[in-house]
Amino acid sequence: MNIAILPGDGIGPEIVAEAVRVLDVLELPFNTESALVGGAAYEAHGHPLPDATLKLAQAADAVLFGAVGDWKFDTLERSLRPEQAILGLRKHLQLFANFRPAICYSQLTHASSLKPELIGGLDILIVRELTGDIYFGQPRGRRESPDGAFKGHPEAFDTMRYSRPEIERIAHVAFQAARKRSKRVTSVDKANVLETFQFWRDVMTEVHADYPDIELDHMYVDNAAMQLVKAPKKFDVIVTGNMFGDILSDEAAMLTGSIGMLPSASLNAANRGLYEPSHGSAPDIAGKNIANPLATILSLAMMLRFSLNQAEAALRVEAAVVKVLESGLRTADIWSEGTQRVGTREMGSAVVAALNAA
Ligand code: IPM
Ligand code: MG
Repeated sequence: MNIAILPGDGIGPEIVAEAVRVLDVLELPFNTESALVGGAAYEAHGHPLPDATLKLAQAADAVLFGAVGDWKFDTLERSLRPEQAILGLRKHLQLFANFRPAICYSQLTHASSLKPELIGGLDILIVRELTGDIYFGQPRGRRESPDGAFKGHPEAFDTMRYSRPEIERIAHVAFQAARKRSKRVTSVDKANVLETFQFWRDVMTEVHADYPDIELDHMYVDNAAMQLVKAPKKFDVIVTGNMFGDILSDEAAMLTGSIGMLPSASLNAANRGLYEPSHGSAPDIAGKNIANPLATILSLAMMLRFSLNQAEAALRVEAAVVKVLESGLRTADIWSEGTQRVGTREMGSAVVAALNAA
């Protein structure tokens, strides 16, 4: 089996390097091959998703992705910006189902800005639709000059749309995921204002008829944003569109203490997938050995489970992460009084050591 490694920009290369060390120590029969993506690829080859990188990803059984983006590319024409690499990969590999679990590790209940009793034991799963919605509609009013100015454009817009099959397939994914959990799904929409999301709500309800064992409720996105900080443990599986899922998953990440802890899996219909931390490229701390590699290491565990049929190895990696947290090591983002602050590299080494000791 082949794994494509795409470290990307900012902290991407540092955190992916630690996940690759973890993969190496597992001694599984996988080949890995790396390629440039995002701003790094733009600088080397003039495009954020060069053909060779896309081909490598398409041929692989799974992709391990770091992060893309840097402010220095903000004035580039949109089609050349680093973000287009991840959007292009999602679209080309048809990675429509994005799993973003938010689990609050008991060792980190004090790292969150929320009260410990609110988030202790939190375990929710956000299922975000990833290849439709306003992200892939028709943009108008794009920057037409290389200096990035709108040059007197009277307006700009993006269109929001969903097709029935797009909603149906993510609905099935969410209901099936709920079957393995506490059998509850909250579908988040904005049906009170947007036609697209009235349609979303109706199709969700239709598909739900196939799942009489699952409880479905609907919630408006503004209310969901509030409930997530008011009583997050009331949620189990949340299913939502591309844009609401983007926003709510960052919010959910903070419930767990740090976005540096949140892994993700983006799957297609054949369970092939791309695995990446839910956080961004954090160029402000790039190259400083500060970033938390755990979200990427936990994304590797998801890869082992979902795409590489190595559930046991996935459990070993997850157990090693817990062991390291129990030992009191913390990167800066999850540090609290009484714990020991370590860097990216040291955190990776600790996970490797925990695996070797197990
Ligand atoms: C994410 C990111 C991406 C998104 C960006 C980098 C395009 O924020 O994966 O959540 O908006 O989907
Ligand atoms: Mg995001």
